[in-house]
Amino acid sequence: MEDHWYPGGFTVPSPTTYPQQFLWDSCFHSLIWAELGDRRAVTELESLFSRQHESGLVPHMGYAEHPETSEELWGVRGSSCITQPPMFGHALAELVRRGWDVPGDLLESAVSGLAYLLRTRRDPETGLCQIWHPWESGMDDSPRWDAWAPAERSEEAWMEAKVRLVRSLPRGPAGFPSGPGDFAVPSVGFSSLVAFNALELDSVGVDSLSDDVHALSRALEPRFDADLGLWTDPTPGSPQSGRSLTLDGLLPLLVLDDPPVGLGAVLSPREFGGPFGPSYVHREDPAFAAGVYWRGDVWPPLTYLLALAARRRGWRDEADTLVRQLVAGAEVSGLAEHWHPDTGEGLGAVPLCWAGLAIVRFPPE
Ligand code: GLC
Repeated sequence: MEDHWYPGGFTVPSPTTYPQQFLWDSCFHSLIWAELGDRRAVTELESLFSRQHESGLVPHMGYAEHPETSEELWGVRGSSCITQPPMFGHALAELVRRGWDVPGDLLESAVSGLAYLLRTRRDPETGLCQIWHPWESGMDDSPRWDAWAPAERSEEAWMEAKVRLVRSLPRGPAGFPSGPGDFAVPSVGFSSLVAFNALELDSVGVDSLSDDVHALSRALEPRFDADLGLWTDPTPGSPQSGRSLTLDGLLPLLVLDDPPVGLGAVLSPREFGGPFGPSYVHREDPAFAAGVYWRGDVWPPLTYLLALAARRRGWRDEADTLVRQLVAGAEVSGLAEHWHPDTGEGLGAVPLCWAGLAIVRFPPE
């Protein structure tokens, strides 16, 4: 964490691969700093919100060092123009629960960030929150977005397609999107994280739009598919990719009162499970490719979130197992960005800060 600290007030995920600030990474960094008892837990979130747009949107990337470099792609100086899962609700609630003195304006910024997602991004038809770019999910190359991927799914071709999706966004005067472009997916994973983060703030006494949150949670319920055992995205024009067997399809476990499924598939070695944590893609999904970026690899934030869901639901054995797998993966991979579910081999940037989630303890039940 020290090595990756940037004097501008945040931790870069990796100084070589990701030398910018990333939204959900920073929220996880805040939890890690808090566990270390370091005040940078608050500073990290302050710098995140310093780039918030007046609509409430919190950009998914911040460019502190060369702010002019963001303009060509994003049309905004110093940041991107799209967002990422709003994990700041959870991070701030954890700080409050741990007795930290959290500045009131930080809580207000978080509520306005969630209000933007709950209101501007709600899809009138399904009631779910839309993402307007695959990168907004944080799960960049998920098979859930394959309807937009080129037939020849080389890394370069997919990257070009994603750049075209950025350019397709209609822009308001400040460069931020005024609506969706060629990509608009009502995502159950993203919607669950929006609802979860709002509920987190609510749980520490910060009123965060409970009517909207309840409506969003209700919209998740009919998306459960009993045959698949998870929640599906009503992806316009491509029901198949919305039905991919991926872990974001289980994130409603963070928020729904009486879910019709548990974590059996997440732990089963024939399904998602592995000794170093669950693979992002189910082993029987046609897209599964062990060790490939968002196609069959373990992502520390998702293992953490599923362990948290288990812990909150009182599924103590499942929570303990997931935490043990997270620790094992972080150790064997050398604190990697993501890792192989069967061997723990480090993948992507090594080290990357969010592997440090392995040290974060859950508060007592
Ligand atoms: C990758 C991940 C994304 C993350 C970023 C920085 O792009 O897909 O979720 O925020 O790296 O770690």
